[in-house]
Amino acid sequence: MAIKAGVARETAPGERRVALTPDSLEKLRAADVSVLVERGAGAGASFTDLEYADAGAKIVTTSVMYSQADVILRINRPSPSEARLLRDGQVVIGLLAPMLDPAAMAEMAGRGVRAVSLDAIPRTLSRAQSMDALSSQANVAGYKAVLMAADAFGRYFPLLTTPAGTAKPANVLVLGIGVAGLQAIATARRLGAQVRAYDVRPETREQAESLGAQFVTLRSVSNGSGQGGYARALTPEEQAAQQDELNDVIASQDVVITTAQVPGRKPPVLVSATAVEHMKPGSIIVDIAAGELGGNCELSVAGKVVATSNGVSIHAPTNVPATMPTGASLFYSRNISNLLLHFVENGELDFDFEDEITAATVITFNGRVVQAATGQLLQTANPGGAKA
Ligand code: NAI
Repeated sequence: MAIKAGVARETAPGERRVALTPDSLEKLRAADVSVLVERGAGAGASFTDLEYADAGAKIVTTSVMYSQADVILRINRPSPSEARLLRDGQVVIGLLAPMLDPAAMAEMAGRGVRAVSLDAIPRTLSRAQSMDALSSQANVAGYKAVLMAADAFGRYFPLLTTPAGTAKPANVLVLGIGVAGLQAIATARRLGAQVRAYDVRPETREQAESLGAQFVTLRSVSNGSGQGGYARALTPEEQAAQQDELNDVIASQDVVITTAQVPGRKPPVLVSATAVEHMKPGSIIVDIAAGELGGNCELSVAGKVVATSNGVSIHAPTNVPATMPTGASLFYSRNISNLLLHFVENGELDFDFEDEITAATVITFNGRVVQAATGQLLQTANPGGAKA
């Protein structure tokens, strides 16, 4: 076979996903790509070495994988010690979050490594959708955020009528109706909650309503739509007015799931400390947008659960997709193999910088950092990429 792709065993703390799952091997083989799997790479996501071997992969040691693979497939940016194993001309594809660590990118460039970042896939390009790992992982995060909230909540989500009485449905508010927000709405509805949802982009109303949520309209921000299907950053005045108006809505909620982001910016604060103060004891906030630069809730602490003195718990889980490693890996595997195959031409790797997907995702090439990345990722907690 012409191209050897290596599947790395992730080493970031808490990471359980794997970049390639056995079901993707057939498609790669058809394109003349053989697969080397670092021993135990799939274990955290419940894929055994035997399954990979049955699907046609060769199970190898770490040093063999790094020395023989032409392309290394990973989830997270390589750690410094992994980066030292990379060699000239080798391609590394993963959620590299180049903006978070420009020095690591410069080092990879210096080694002649071709770093390709899946988080830089242009989201609005329909032919790139099958490669959009940020979306597939955000989908998992939106789903899981609701399950985490339901698990932490002291009451039922659905309306229940039983001989012991009736349980009222939970009131769930979803803030930010993008990929994760839509999945959060759908999941909360499936669990029987009454769902309200808000986003600054008015076009999200129809999507939220089609999933059974009631859209919350605020007077303070009329249209927050920005470029490329994303929201624009609000002015400080708009932000303050938005928070004020949301305070009243939030006070009556049992559960608030926050997913708002503006690419390349600090997450907007939608749930102020005052809003939390007015929530009922037992209320739950799950803020998946939280990271090193803060979150959508003023009181979120990335990676922690904060219990407030008025009985509200604020969860800010980082790397939620790793908590559902099998499902998250299956989707990721399709994304990464589609991107890899995008670079394969007649059994060889070919990088055509005239192509929009290649131009957006190739970060280092021929010894240089060719692209500072799109600004999608500004903080560590996000798209399911754990800190390397
Ligand atoms: P997205 O870009 O599809 O959706 C974000 C939504 O927020 C957009 O609809 C946007 O209009 C809205 N928004 C922006 N500013 C707003 C404001 N001021 N008020 C109301 N709405 C506003 O993003 P996606 O892919 O759904 O991801 C959501 C968040 O979840 C991101 O912060 C992402 O990094 C994070 N994430 C976190 C994970 C974790 O493990 N904690 C895993 C995956 C994603």
